[in-house]
Amino acid sequence: MTDLTVLVVGSGGREHALALAIAADPGVAAVHVAPGNPGTWHAWPSHAVDPTDGDAVAALATEIGADLVVVGPEAPLVAGVADAVRAAGIACFGPTAQAAQLEGSKQFAKDVMAAAGVPTAASRFCRTPGEVAAALDALGAPYVVKQDGLAAGKGVVVTNDRDEALAHAAACGDVVVEEYLDGPEVSLFVITDGTVALPLQPAQDFKRVGDDDAGPNTGGMGAYTPLPWAPEGLVAAVMDRVVTPTLEEMTRRGTPFAGLLYVGLALTSRGMRVVEYNARFGDPETQAILPLLETPLGQVLYAAATGTLADVGPLSWRDESAVIVVAAAENYPGTPRAGGSITGPRLYETADNVHIVHAGTALDGDTLVAAGGRVLGVVATGPTLTDARDDAYAALAELDFPTGFWRTDIAAKAAAGLIPPVTSL
Ligand code: AMP
Ligand code: GLY
Repeated sequence: MTDLTVLVVGSGGREHALALAIAADPGVAAVHVAPGNPGTWHAWPSHAVDPTDGDAVAALATEIGADLVVVGPEAPLVAGVADAVRAAGIACFGPTAQAAQLEGSKQFAKDVMAAAGVPTAASRFCRTPGEVAAALDALGAPYVVKQDGLAAGKGVVVTNDRDEALAHAAACGDVVVEEYLDGPEVSLFVITDGTVALPLQPAQDFKRVGDDDAGPNTGGMGAYTPLPWAPEGLVAAVMDRVVTPTLEEMTRRGTPFAGLLYVGLALTSRGMRVVEYNARFGDPETQAILPLLETPLGQVLYAAATGTLADVGPLSWRDESAVIVVAAAENYPGTPRAGGSITGPRLYETADNVHIVHAGTALDGDTLVAAGGRVLGVVATGPTLTDARDDAYAALAELDFPTGFWRTDIAAKAAAGLIPPVTSL
């Protein structure tokens, strides 16, 4: 397909990064974003539509003559926005509401993994405090308690404190209590039309708010790709033991999964385990991964959305590294402080090897201000991880964002060769 008109749905850093990569595809004639953020408003036509309103998104897609709609976040997918767009006769990259339950319910994901024989943490689904207490004692410390439904990356508590684990469960309602998994985490994204699946480059995300993984979980404070320490054969092993059986199981259930399958893995001393599935591109890993993708992204997503991914060969990649460091607003992941001003160079420039991806930004007159938890991300690419990291942090140092903060150790251990080798897959 050439001359594609593509509508990207969502307003975060992931959607800004998707729009940038799709717009760079020579086969794409126009990009629109709904509702977007100041970073996307600057570059493409934007539309003030509620991303979780399927009828409104489908009507907009029809009105602008979209050939392809790409749904970024999980909430619209779980709400059935991709179904509404397809019902209007427009190709949509994103799973059905039923298939998005792989992310929408931790327990559903665990059922699919069990049926597909996918390695994952032992777990118990709990509805009452008594069930939670019994599960904590059976599975032991460190305790892992996960809210069953969507929680924007903040529904999981990992703690040695039994009372904290019980309190989190009480605040969540239905929960999944899990065995603790040690070892480095990997995010592997797979683009699939339900049958054929193409892996992207693995990335690593930094979930905790503070340096050295201190403090509570967040949506993600930074990421880098590729992983110099990853064992050979990692991607093939995940495709073989996780992705293929999961897609087959979804098809067997009559709810094939087409879209982006995000496999969150822990590479434990006893082998790889799936930590979670998501039904969409990860944020902020996507911001690091897509700048290294050589294959035109619009074509790939269109093929996935139309069941023709077999016609697209393996994806090709630039032989470089990429890092994103997220700048968050003071007090994130609690209630973030809104309104802090952001000034500095390259707030809207994207031509360089360093660029800013907007997320929770807003405009106050002409001034860019913080309006969310994760406010923006600085993305840098370079010949090595160290180069990319240095450039990202140099650009952050040029920002004047007094109410913002960021981790100082994104990709530091990997760049210094300090991540111990993984011995068993
Ligand atoms: P999830 O929402 O399931 O991805 O969990 C968010 C984060 O919590 C993960 O990326 C891990 O850092 C941590 N986590 C989740 N499950 C486990 C587990 N079973 N053992 C250790 N850490 C976990
Ligand atoms: N970076 C984690 C996520 O997107 O869920």
